[in-house]
Amino acid sequence: MNTQAKVAIVTGASRGIGAAIAQRLASDGFTVVINYAGKAAEAEQLAGDIEKAGGRAITAQADVSDPAAVARLFDAAEAAYGGVDVLVNNAGIMKLASLAESDDALFDSQIAVNLKGTFNTLRQAARRLRNGGRIVNLSTSVVGLKLENYGVYAATKAAVETMTAILSKELRGRSITVNAVAPGPTATDLFLDGKSPELIERMAKMNPLERLGTPADIANAVAFLAGPDGGWINGQVLRANGGMV
Ligand SMILES: NC(=O)c1ccc[n+]([C@@H]2O[C@H](COP(=O)([O-])OP(=O)(O)OC[C@H]3O[C@@H](n4cnc5c(N)ncnc54)[C@H](OP(=O)(O)O)[C@@H]3O)[C@@H](O)[C@H]2O)c1
Repeated sequence: MNTQAKVAIVTGASRGIGAAIAQRLASDGFTVVINYAGKAAEAEQLAGDIEKAGGRAITAQADVSDPAAVARLFDAAEAAYGGVDVLVNNAGIMKLASLAESDDALFDSQIAVNLKGTFNTLRQAARRLRNGGRIVNLSTSVVGLKLENYGVYAATKAAVETMTAILSKELRGRSITVNAVAPGPTATDLFLDGKSPELIERMAKMNPLERLGTPADIANAVAFLAGPDGGWINGQVLRANGGMV
C-alpha cells in the first residue's frame, strides 16, 4: 500500500497511544484525521506539530459511542480529503474493579466506548472505506492474561477481537485488511492513573524485557499493519507487550 495521499482516521488521538499512532502515520506519509472526545487543545496541538513537520492533519471531535457523531466523523474526513483508507480504532476507557464491585455505570460506560464505539466506527468503515484500505483495532493483552479486576474491560476487548476476525471475512473482495493490536501495560494516563509507583513497577516487570511499553512501541505495531509491509496480515491479533503473554 502506497501511503502517499492515503487518509487515516485515528480515534482517541489527542493523547497517549492514539497521539503516537497519529504522529507515526503522518510521518509515514498518511494524511491523518485526529479524533478526540473532549481535549480539543491537545488535538489541535498535535495537528499543528504534524503540519509543522510537513505532514497533513485535521482534528475532528466525536464521541465514538454516538453513532451519529461517528457518521459525522467520516463525513468530515471525506469532505476534507475525498475518502478514507485507514481506520485505527484506538479510543478506549478502562475502569477496574472485581465483578462483585462493578456497578452498572462501570459496565455501561466501557461497553459504550470500547465495544459500541468500535462497532460504530467499524460499521462506517465497512460501508465507506476505499478498497485496499486497512483497519486496526486496539485490544489489550489482558484478554490473554485474564487478570483480576479487568473483567468488564477485558470482555469489551475480547468482543473487539471477535469483531476483528469476522469483519476481515465480511470485507472479502475489497482488499481491506482488519487486524487488532493488543498492547500490554503502556505508559499513558489510562494505565498510570490511580496506580501506586510500586504497582506500576511490578506490572512493568511482568514481561521479560522488564519495562512498560511506550506509546511509540504500540504505534510501531499499528504502522506495520497499516503500511505496505503488513498487507498479508489479515484477521489477526498482534500482542505488543514485550513478551508478557
Ligand atoms: N495504556 C495501556 O496500558 C493500554 C494497554 C492495552 C490497551 N490499551 C488500549 O489502547 C487504547 C488507547 O489507550 P491510552 O492508554 O492511550 O488511553 P488514554 O491515554 O486514556 O487516551 C484515551 C484517548 O481516547 C479518547 N477517548 C476516550 N473516550 C472517547 C470517546 N468516547 N470518543 C472518542 N475518543 C475518546 C481520549 O480523548 P480525550 O483526550 O479527548 O479525552 C484520548 O484521546 C485504548 O483502546 C486502550 O484500551 C491501552
